[in-house]
Amino acid sequence: MTDRYAVIGNPVEHSKSPQIHAEFARQTGQDISYERLSAPLDAFEVTVRKFFDEGGKGLNVTVPFKRGAWHMVNTHAGDALDAEAVNTIKAEAGKLIGYNTDGTGLVNDLKNNIGVEIAGKRVLLLGTGGAAYGVMFPLLRENQTLTLAYRTLEKAQRLVKTVENHQGVTGTGLEAKPYSGLAGEQFDIVINATSAGLSGEMPPLPTGIFASGALAYDMVYGRDTPFMEFAREAGVRAVDGLGMLVEQAAESFFIWRGVRPDTASVIALLRGPR
Ligand code: ATR
Repeated sequence: MTDRYAVIGNPVEHSKSPQIHAEFARQTGQDISYERLSAPLDAFEVTVRKFFDEGGKGLNVTVPFKRGAWHMVNTHAGDALDAEAVNTIKAEAGKLIGYNTDGTGLVNDLKNNIGVEIAGKRVLLLGTGGAAYGVMFPLLRENQTLTLAYRTLEKAQRLVKTVENHQGVTGTGLEAKPYSGLAGEQFDIVINATSAGLSGEMPPLPTGIFASGALAYDMVYGRDTPFMEFAREAGVRAVDGLGMLVEQAAESFFIWRGVRPDTASVIALLRGPR
């Protein structure tokens, strides 16, 4: 029987996940269906329960339900506990297991598709919301040090505390700074995990932030954000988050099906002819 999967979100109409997973399934010969599931903002849990009660095997969770999913699942696996967000749910023996594959997706895209090593680089992460939480620990695993730029001090303090609680030490390799505190510094990899691009805004980065040969990465996909334009004007390579989207999907697919799809061909397919 065909196993049922879906992406749940609100809005979810424009999600590329059904296309990505259909392609993975075709490649690997897996018999699955994958649909879009729109949940009312006040009925996330009910919609999830119904999906699994009806025999669903797994869900991807997207905006704005990742934190709700984290609270709802029975257990956390992989990076999910620290990320305080769940983007992948697997039903197993009547229990819901929550995973977060966003961080691995970002790291795999940087290393395998873009060809950028993270270890030893000066890495700057912008933002203190759910997207930043999702990628922070996987980035810290790659690199001992990470600078975080924030707009709201309390949110940065909470994020730093989360890392310290996890690592059991104060003074980890994570350093949080306000945007104004970045003047005069240079970074090799700048990752935009703010939602600024979605509203056509630009995080208030000082000019001169990019080291020579730096990479600017925006986790938003499907559009050129002001951050990407800012980077290009500075003569720096800028990429969007489409590769991360496909890589996090591949990790979810692996969790559910135990097989690894080829991601490069799917990224090329989604980007279309150049
Ligand atoms: P998500 O879950 O997608 O990360 P979020 O929790 O709303 O979304 O977080 C969005 C992040 O983008 C926040 O860190 C936000 O900064 P504030 O906490 O200060 O609001 C950041 N952000 C949004 N627009 C921004 C902008 N124009 N400049 C800088 N940071 C911005």
